[in-house]
Amino acid sequence: MDRFKNKVALITGSSQGIGAACALRLAREGADIILNGHKFDDRGEKLIAEIEEMGRKAKFITADVSDVKAVIRLVKEAVTAFGGLDILVNNAGLEIKSDFLEVKEKDYDTVMDTNLKGIFFGIQEFSKYCKKEKRAGVVVNMSSVHEEIVFPHFAAYCVSKGGLKMLTRNLATELAPLGIRVNNVAPGAISTPINQELLSDKKQLQKVIKNIPIGRMGKVEDVAGVVAFLASDDAAYVTGSTYFVDGGLTYHYEEQ
Ligand code: NAI
Ligand code: BGC
Repeated sequence: MDRFKNKVALITGSSQGIGAACALRLAREGADIILNGHKFDDRGEKLIAEIEEMGRKAKFITADVSDVKAVIRLVKEAVTAFGGLDILVNNAGLEIKSDFLEVKEKDYDTVMDTNLKGIFFGIQEFSKYCKKEKRAGVVVNMSSVHEEIVFPHFAAYCVSKGGLKMLTRNLATELAPLGIRVNNVAPGAISTPINQELLSDKKQLQKVIKNIPIGRMGKVEDVAGVVAFLASDDAAYVTGSTYFVDGGLTYHYEEQ
């Protein structure tokens, strides 16, 4: 399949985890890739080599996406890197665990700036570019099942993902006339470094898996496949939606 032939995709936070899997998946289907992270290291180098081996182009642009000026620069540099930008995957995100009573303002700001504010202004910059160049665009935001369901001790994270849900609904309406589609992917429990603590606690892990009808943690490739669908023309009539990739976790119910 060559769904992304002649397309360029920017994937934020793509040195590892879900972002790296999205980069590889979109490249495998023909896209040239702009990778991003706080810093360029051996993970970025390895990804570039893998993507180039597929016959695609790849470039790593360092930027802290919680900083609005840096996000705007990132989008501008991504646009010029390979002569255009078609797909923006807002994947970078983080969570900080804390009882609600103990949450520090600094941590709240870090979570909100990374998971919501940077995305807000990144989409704005991308949309201005699409409008100016009169070209269509696709945005896929990495939300979470926690745009919908609670996650005790992660209140700021839930607020950020809940905000992302409404941002997507709103922008789908506002940006459709410009030919820009905006959707969310909402992963459940996926095996990535963000879940390191959970993955190393066998008892807790079994408890989580009991709540997942499909009976296992998600793989990064499970998420990347849905991102690729939403970024492609197969989803040409899909905008303002959230696609859950959670093994059934969100709407799971069983009588004990
Ligand atoms: P991860 O921690 O492995 O990857 C996140 C990447 O984003 C890291 O490379 C990190 O350095 C980068 N990043 C964080 N803040 C950044 C910033 N300010 N600027 C640039 N890069 C930054 O985590 P994972 O699991 O791959 O997470 C990716 C996204 O998926 C996040 O938005 C997360 O909230 C979301 N998600 C993850 C789930 C999971 O179970 N793993 C479930 C639901 C959502
Ligand atoms: C969180 C993970 C968590 C998953 C399911 C994600 O948004 O980042 O830590 O395991 O949701 O609760």
